[in-house]
Amino acid sequence: GRMVRVALLGCGTVGGEVARLLTEQADELAARAGAPVELAGIAVRRPDKHPELPQHLLTADAAALVESDVDVVVELIGGIEPVRTWLLTALRKGKSVVTANKALLSEYSGELSEAADAAGADLYFEASVAGAIPLLRPLRESLAGDRITKVMGIVNGTTNFILSAMDSTGAGYAETLDEASRLGYAEADPTADVDGYDAASKAAILASLAFHTRVTASDVHREGISGVTASDIAAAKALGRTVKLLAICERVTADDGTESVSARVHPVMIPRSHPLAGVGGAFNAVFVEADAAGELMFYGQGAGGAPTASAVLGDLVAVARNLVLGGRGPRESAHANLPVRPMGQT
Ligand code: HSE
Repeated sequence: GRMVRVALLGCGTVGGEVARLLTEQADELAARAGAPVELAGIAVRRPDKHPELPQHLLTADAAALVESDVDVVVELIGGIEPVRTWLLTALRKGKSVVTANKALLSEYSGELSEAADAAGADLYFEASVAGAIPLLRPLRESLAGDRITKVMGIVNGTTNFILSAMDSTGAGYAETLDEASRLGYAEADPTADVDGYDAASKAAILASLAFHTRVTASDVHREGISGVTASDIAAAKALGRTVKLLAICERVTADDGTESVSARVHPVMIPRSHPLAGVGGAFNAVFVEADAAGELMFYGQGAGGAPTASAVLGDLVAVARNLVLGGRGPRESAHANLPVRPMGQT
């Protein structure tokens, strides 16, 4: 019978969990997908550094693995090149792609989805924003019949951990960042998190889906948390508030009725009674407002190996079902092309 052959690119924190779950839950996944979902190869930079993985699957040649006899490419390496080239190659050959690569998607989702459409392949990326939280499918599919007006929330676990710790200890930014690194919450290079680049990429992806237009990371006004001081936090506290790094994507209507999209990331003082104020640690939470649905809240683990792998595997099952049953993933038939306001101005 049919079999769905998977190339895994990258085997770090998330990739390792994906490989483990694909192996340990093979029977259940096969039952849900309608065919065995088989790991055909794993591309890593240094195969000799992975004694925990099946050695016959390992390769250092990601490009060759993409070109080999596989149906789906799961990309968990990150960064723009050479990943962009590999994924375009896969899509142009009709292979579906599952990726968590927010940096790539926030610049090149247009190019990637056009390549997918042209070849009849699927492009799924639920794991790129808010880890385990089902958020992109609701925006693309469940709410496709509604009119979303706002998407706002905490989409970076590292900065949320730091701001929550500063709020509870009264300590300064630098000291708390050191502690977050020591505990393994912040990356070796925390720049993308603390300067808001990671959240800005996620805001671009959210705004593009919510408003059916194309927003890139460079359209997003961005301010990180390195300027937040212990006295800012104390002042917020005195006002019954706390500081959170928020991504805010809005549909803006001008006086003459013309609409546009604004996306921005910056620290915000929010009332301690606001539901987002209670979101601590590495958790994420996102509010969505739509005309008919009203207000919705999505909450859960936004980072980490297993939570992010959950979203990747969900995408993989969706792709496998499409291959087995003959369906296609969510696509946008036409873009409203709402103009994007420069740097998130409102
Ligand atoms: N560095 C990211 C975060 C990982 O802290 O949220 C998840 O995208």
